[in-house]
Amino acid sequence: MSIAFLDDSYVPLEEARISPLDRGFLFGDGIYEVIPSYGGKMVGFKPHMHRMRQGLEAIGIELNWSDQKWSELCNQLIQKNGAGNLGIYLHVSRGADTSRFHAFPDGVEPTVFAFTFEIASSPVADKAKVKPFRVSTAEDLRWQRCHIKSTALLGNVLHFQYSYERGHSETLLYNGDNQLTEASACNVFVVKDGSVATPPLDHQKLAGITRFMLLDILSQDGSIPVQERVVTMDEVFDADEVWITSSSKEIAPVVEIDGKPVANGEIGDLWLAAQTLFSANKYNY
Ligand code: PDD
Repeated sequence: MSIAFLDDSYVPLEEARISPLDRGFLFGDGIYEVIPSYGGKMVGFKPHMHRMRQGLEAIGIELNWSDQKWSELCNQLIQKNGAGNLGIYLHVSRGADTSRFHAFPDGVEPTVFAFTFEIASSPVADKAKVKPFRVSTAEDLRWQRCHIKSTALLGNVLHFQYSYERGHSETLLYNGDNQLTEASACNVFVVKDGSVATPPLDHQKLAGITRFMLLDILSQDGSIPVQERVVTMDEVFDADEVWITSSSKEIAPVVEIDGKPVANGEIGDLWLAAQTLFSANKYNY
C-alpha cells in the first residue's frame, strides 16, 4: 500500500483523511507541484521548490518550510514507496476553516499533503520508443492567472477532456488573438526551419519546469537556435515539428493536430536532438 504524508505524519494513502471544510476542497484554494523521480533521483527539485514558493507567495499562504524540509519529505516518500518511477505530488492548501467565508481566514494552519504515484519510466531519446501525440486544439477558456500552479484545475480538466473524448491525448490552447498559450497540462514548442520557439511567460501559461530546463539546456548547448516569442496558431499548423513538455513526459513529439499531420506526420530529428540533450542534463537541476 502506498504511503502518503498528511498533517506531519506518514499514513497509508487509503487512510489519509482531509476535512470537507478544507479550503482546498471547497474553493480549490491551494497550489501543488509534481516532481518526477527515477530510481530515487529527482528531476528539477530546486526549480520546483522555487515555483512552489512563488505560488505560495502569490496566493498569500505562509508556510516557512526550507528546501531541506521538503527534500526530506520527498526522500522519505521515495524510500517508503520503493524508488521506482514516481511522480511526487506536493500539495499545500490554505487549510480548514469553520466558516465558508471567501476571504482568507486568520490563524488557520495550511494543509500539507503529499503522495507518490507511478509514472512511466524515464523518457528515452528514441523515435521507436517515444509515444507520438495526437492532439486537439481549442480556445483557452481558463482564468487569467494561469502562471499560478493552482489546485483549481477544472478549466484544465475540461480542456483535457475535450481531446480525450476525440481519442486525442492533449489540447493545444490559443487565446482570442489566435496565439498559442500552452496545453491543458503541458507547455508547447514549435520548430520551423531548424529553429525552436515557445511562447513567452505571462499570466496565460504556467512556467513549466521542463520548459525552463529545456530552454536552459538548448541555449547552453547552442547547436539549436531557440526563442521565447509569440507563436500564432498559423505557425503551429505550419510547423516542421511540435513538442509538448511536462515533468513526466519531458519532451513529447506531436505528430497530428486536429486530425492533420504535423509536416509529414513523422517524429522529427530536432525532437531527437533535444530529448538527447535533455536526457543527458536533466539531473543537473
Ligand atoms: N502539469 N502547463 C500546465 C497547465 C501544466 O499543468 C503543466 C504540468 C505544465 C508543465 O509543467 P512542468 O514542466 O513543470 O511539469 C504546463 C502537471 C505535471 C500536472 O498537472 O500533472
